Amino acid sequence: MTETPLSVAVIGAGMAGRAHAYGYRQAGSIYDSDFPRIRLAAIADANVPLGEDATRRYGFERTYSDWRQVAEDPEIDAVSIVVGNALHLSIARGLLEAGKHVLCEKPLAGTLEDAQAMVELEREYAGRTDAQGRPLITSVGYTVRRMPALNAIRAKVEGGEFGPVTNFIGTYLCDYSCDERAPMSWRYKGGPGSGALGDLGSHVIDTGELINGPITAVRGAVMDTITKERPLPLGAVVGHQHVEVSDEVEPVENEDFLTFTCSFANGAVGTYTISRVAFGTPNSQTYHLVGPRAQASFDITKPAEFMYDDAQAAADTRGQRRVLINPETPLYANSCAMDAPGIGYNYNDNFAIQARAFLGQVAGVETGLDPCAGFADGLHTLEVIQAIAASAEQGGAEVRLG
Ligand SMILES: NC(=O)c1ccc[n+]([C@@H]2O[C@H](COP(=O)([O-])OP(=O)(O)OC[C@H]3O[C@@H](n4cnc5c(N)ncnc54)[C@H](O)[C@@H]3O)[C@@H](O)[C@H]2O)c1
Repeated sequence: MTETPLSVAVIGAGMAGRAHAYGYRQAGSIYDSDFPRIRLAAIADANVPLGEDATRRYGFERTYSDWRQVAEDPEIDAVSIVVGNALHLSIARGLLEAGKHVLCEKPLAGTLEDAQAMVELEREYAGRTDAQGRPLITSVGYTVRRMPALNAIRAKVEGGEFGPVTNFIGTYLCDYSCDERAPMSWRYKGGPGSGALGDLGSHVIDTGELINGPITAVRGAVMDTITKERPLPLGAVVGHQHVEVSDEVEPVENEDFLTFTCSFANGAVGTYTISRVAFGTPNSQTYHLVGPRAQASFDITKPAEFMYDDAQAAADTRGQRRVLINPETPLYANSCAMDAPGIGYNYNDNFAIQARAFLGQVAGVETGLDPCAGFADGLHTLEVIQAIAASAEQGGAEVRLG
């Protein structure tokens, strides 16, 4: 294995930026130990104390105050973009121009137009190489894709065990916007579809498509906003944190909650409920799949288990059984320090698997992991999001995709 380390940087040290830093720190410690050495080069954040804190915590070498310094640093190979969605396009362009590999957070961009421009970039840079002659990677981070339990359910679906999936029920309920005094931030800016749908829906839409294939049509969409304006913060807002606010307010430009139904390529119908104003549910992502021969459910607050039922058990003891993920579960063996059944799994572990997959693509080494989604996949999610927003605009009318 090559001795030259892969030098990585993270742009954004907020809620998800820290998770990317953690992921890069762990990526060399999981699965096979034969992996290029990873140099934790830099973290960039406009909020310098926040960036310095992440740099120290995760053992990176230096802090930059501007993403352009990452682009200009000739020693850096691969970069995560983990800032507000409206900034993704300009940063991705700057990084690709500088010959860096890019892992961009979901949703790919703040608007469909920006996402289309990013796919243009992906096409423009396809076949171009970094300073070491490696083809440039343009990818999107769909972290939920890496959950072992969901991949176990996916394998059952692909193996035909459901015979087939008829209904897919996905929910993503959060409470981060319940408080109407929660400060204005980038999350409340952008048109219909860029609120709860873009922030939370992008995850659950992707999971539905991971398991059932592409969404072919959406219908019945309803979305609304209950808090129409929010106070401006008096300090930096990180993630969903509350800070002191001023008396000045700005309008909320996107939706707090929504619902829609859809059809998937495998014939399943999907029912989705998504909200950022769901009291008492800080981060509740659930999936329930049924078909004539099996059913499965998963709750992200219990990431190391899923419920499953099929006709294997005798009728007198049949019922949903709790499966603890174990080394037989896809992705789980060696994905974390203790991989024994019952030890557990953490959402943050997904970021290590994702970082490993991305850096494997960069280095051109086989990881056995699904490669990260590309910008074109990220654009597809934005197209689904736009179709849902259009359905809501048209009183729930069906909008077909592709
Ligand atoms: N995969 C996941 O599970 C997950 C979870 C949360 C957020 N996200 C995604 O991650 C991205 C960031 O979300 P977040 O919640 O971490 O946001 P955040 O607001 O917590 O952090 C964003 C950071 O970017 C910094 N920043 C702003 N402009 C900058 C610039 N020009 N240069 C450098 N830094 C700059 C801010 O100071 C802030 O610290 C979004 O795309 C979001 O959708 C993904």
